[in-house]
Amino acid sequence: MDESSVELKNLSKQFGAHPVVRDVSLQIKRGEFFSLLGPSGCGKTTTLRLLAGFDNPSSGEIFINGSLANGAPPYARDVNLVFQSYALFPHMNVYQNVAFGLEMKKLSRSQIQPMLEEVLSLVRLTGLESRFPKQLSGGQQQRVALARALVTHPSVLLLDEPLGALDLKLRKEMQLELKKLQRKLNITFIYVTHDQEEALTMSDRIAVMDHGRVVQVGRPEEIYEQPATRFVADFIGETNFIEGKIVSCDPPWVKVDVQGIQMSALGIPPYEKSREVVIAIRPEKIWLQKEHSSSSENQFTGLIEELVYLGTDTRYLVRLSDELILTVRQQNLDHSAFRKGDRVYLGWPAPCAQVLHPETEA
Ligand SMILES: Nc1ncnc2c1ncn2[C@@H]1O[C@H](COP(=O)(O)OP(=O)(O)O)[C@@H](O)[C@H]1O
Ligand SMILES: [Mg+2]
Repeated sequence: MDESSVELKNLSKQFGAHPVVRDVSLQIKRGEFFSLLGPSGCGKTTTLRLLAGFDNPSSGEIFINGSLANGAPPYARDVNLVFQSYALFPHMNVYQNVAFGLEMKKLSRSQIQPMLEEVLSLVRLTGLESRFPKQLSGGQQQRVALARALVTHPSVLLLDEPLGALDLKLRKEMQLELKKLQRKLNITFIYVTHDQEEALTMSDRIAVMDHGRVVQVGRPEEIYEQPATRFVADFIGETNFIEGKIVSCDPPWVKVDVQGIQMSALGIPPYEKSREVVIAIRPEKIWLQKEHSSSSENQFTGLIEELVYLGTDTRYLVRLSDELILTVRQQNLDHSAFRKGDRVYLGWPAPCAQVLHPETEA
């Protein structure tokens, strides 16, 4: 069977007159690590709650393992949810916290014991069974929450910013651990985060959300290299936005006039002449040189206005004209190559610059 693990069809949710999830359609594959990424308030948690059955959609359909789940109570869905706040019972020890769901299902102690051993070893908590939550570190508490969600063997695990409360170093470790665990168990993970780096590191595919809508779905490198809209390009990584007017179009290439400077970029036709467009280019795609390059056509001159040394690379602000300053990042092969006030040549391979789609109306 190659039916989807989870499918959302035109899912919408409003609270009163306030639309929070808008016409979301997604197909998530079995065993996929799928992330919902977007700024705070864009509707990620609400989407997960609809999936888990804690809320009912205003319209649209939810399919889990091929069956319509609308109206089914949370316990009847083959999904489990892990929250950011671990929501552990403080008066129960690790064993009791993890066994709680199984006891509610009236499983016997002899049935529960091997399941507990298996899941606690999976999340590396063996030996800590009798500790109480307050005797555990943040990372260990999160692993208890994970064990509790995994012990019932759901086919889909929903994770709502599960690492949000951890410090950076621990968060990075847990990212790798979660990813390994997901691979090993081959469970579908639907992972909510507002952290772009986390989504890029962990996901097979990402859906970027803005104001309740999914604005782009793709693999991490697709989202980063070919952002569909200005919102996506801006939210994920750093981007230069250059406003100009179309001079000519030779699909897939577009020539754009930017205050008298002509630049080539990749664009999707049809684009009529003189139309105002925005070119997006990542700072690390722009090269800097002291000398004119005879082989490059997309080449300009500029003045280094500012530079910030960042260790592995340096971030430059380069002025091309009165109105146009670009951010450029260069690896520090030779960290003293350019100085403030230097006249430089800069440019980029045309495929690295992209004419953005007009924004979907919010
Ligand atoms: N039960 C509710 N009643 C009214 N508004 C809500 C409710 N739950 C969420 N919202 C609103 O929906 C929007 C999206 O919230 P949420 O899904 O939590 O976003 P995210 O998880 O992406 O930060 C927010 O504006 C929030 O205030
Ligand atoms: Mg949320």
